[in-house]
Amino acid sequence: MSAASQPILQAGGTTPPAPVHVGIIMDGNGRWAAARGVPRALGHKAGAEATRRVVEAAGQMGISWLTLFAFSSENWRRPADEVRDLTGLLRHYLRHEVGQLVEKGVRLRVIGDRSAFGPGMQAEIERAEAATLGNTRLNVNVALSYGGRAEIARAAAALARHAVAGEIDPASIDEATLARHLDTAGMPDPDLIIRTSGESRLSNFLLWQCAYSELIFQPVLWPDYDAGHLREAVAEFHRRDRRFGARTG
Ligand code: FPP
Repeated sequence: MSAASQPILQAGGTTPPAPVHVGIIMDGNGRWAAARGVPRALGHKAGAEATRRVVEAAGQMGISWLTLFAFSSENWRRPADEVRDLTGLLRHYLRHEVGQLVEKGVRLRVIGDRSAFGPGMQAEIERAEAATLGNTRLNVNVALSYGGRAEIARAAAALARHAVAGEIDPASIDEATLARHLDTAGMPDPDLIIRTSGESRLSNFLLWQCAYSELIFQPVLWPDYDAGHLREAVAEFHRRDRRFGARTG
């Protein structure tokens, strides 16, 4: 039995259910490369291998939703050659992983502002989404050109357009209405958000959706991340007392 498929046993012998939705801020590719004196592109390539391992492990652990922060709306400010390397790698991943994803029952979706990419990348995204449409074992969202504030602003703009067109009454807009206009419409909020590399911030990731997420920061650099690290994060998640604003005693 692989490390990832072992049940998580707690004192008393019960196996708590896996978190339904896990978000991951995959950080530390650059530092991993710098520590080895190799180009940053190799760090991102090793990061893509870690992503493959974690998608596999998440499926085995019974996680239903995985949202991976792969390219932020702020990442466009990186030097042009790094943006080219990263987008090239992501495009390669979309094209060549689809077969594996289908085999593993993974449905892939992209959240974020895909219109920021060229037509070739947009077509690749659509192809990958269409090819995995019927899969139900694990939902993987890849956040590309994604920023939480931009996502909320896009939802607000869509609601304003509907209101101006007389399609909705502004007085009826509530949290559920706004949530239905986010890229994550219809998806559960993340129970757990993990950030690797030791940085302790959210960096504009799932700002609306993280209201009651447990946040776990692990000091490991993303290219070194494996099933064991994911299991540690889930074990720590199970030790947390989630009250959602209510009192337990
Ligand atoms: C952070 O490392 C990582 C990224 C900006 C990109 C994440 C991309 C991948 C892991 C590639 C594969 C993804 C998929 C979905 C196949 P950093 O460059 O910010 O590292 P640093 O903070 O150490 O410089």
